Amino acid sequence: MATDWLAWHEQYASGSALNQRLELVRRFIRAALDAQPPGEIRVLSMCAGDGRDILGVLDGHPRATDVRARLVEMEPVLAGRAREAVSRLGLSAIDVVTGDAGSTDAYAGIAPVNIALVCGVFGNITDDDIRATIEHLPELCAAGAHAVWTRGTFEPDLTPQIRRWFEESSFRNLAFEGVPGTTMAAGHVVLDGLPRPYRSGVRLFEFLPDEERPSQRAIRGPA
Ligand SMILES: C[S@@+](CC[C@H](N)C(=O)[O-])C[C@H]1O[C@@H](n2cnc3c(N)ncnc32)[C@H](O)[C@@H]1O
Repeated sequence: MATDWLAWHEQYASGSALNQRLELVRRFIRAALDAQPPGEIRVLSMCAGDGRDILGVLDGHPRATDVRARLVEMEPVLAGRAREAVSRLGLSAIDVVTGDAGSTDAYAGIAPVNIALVCGVFGNITDDDIRATIEHLPELCAAGAHAVWTRGTFEPDLTPQIRRWFEESSFRNLAFEGVPGTTMAAGHVVLDGLPRPYRSGVRLFEFLPDEERPSQRAIRGPA
């Protein structure tokens, strides 16, 4: 059966491990926002869900009206919820697109961004797709861009390799933290090297069928 991403979002109940991951991700996003110089701040979110990570940070943040963002989410109900949240915040420069975040076409007109969010993605795609997404990220980024990412540390733990892939793509690790007592983890990196020009039509990733998704290992435990 295909994952019910609406039900998945219900795990964001207060105090849950996922909610603790959200707090970690929001802390990294806040640090990325606070590091931005005056002027427009461009943001993209791949597989944004209902957008609660970035939108929760922007709520009441002094830089909120400087942000121009594109949130890309395939599930129409979740995208609709993100749109409602944007409207409640009165932030007219935030677009929520119902569509495929796995192609660079989704970022035409918003790239190069100052902050890229890749949260809830790396546990659902192949290792090759993770590597491709990271390798192509400098084509979506402005100089000095920050990126926030997540991936569980369940065995075999791919997070050391993911951090190496970021380094090989000229990103410097700023933080990598786990939620204590769980396999949930998030990272924060900054682009030290040169960004590359945006290219349309590049395939970054595709979500795997449920039974093949690495994140299922965290749920099932050791076979
Ligand atoms: C694990 S959830 C993460 C949601 C959000 N980023 C978060 O961390 O709360 C993965 C999300 O990716 C969406 N999704 C799956 N494949 C997608 C694709 N190709 N393009 C855009 N969204 C996709 C799902 O609908 C789901 O909402």
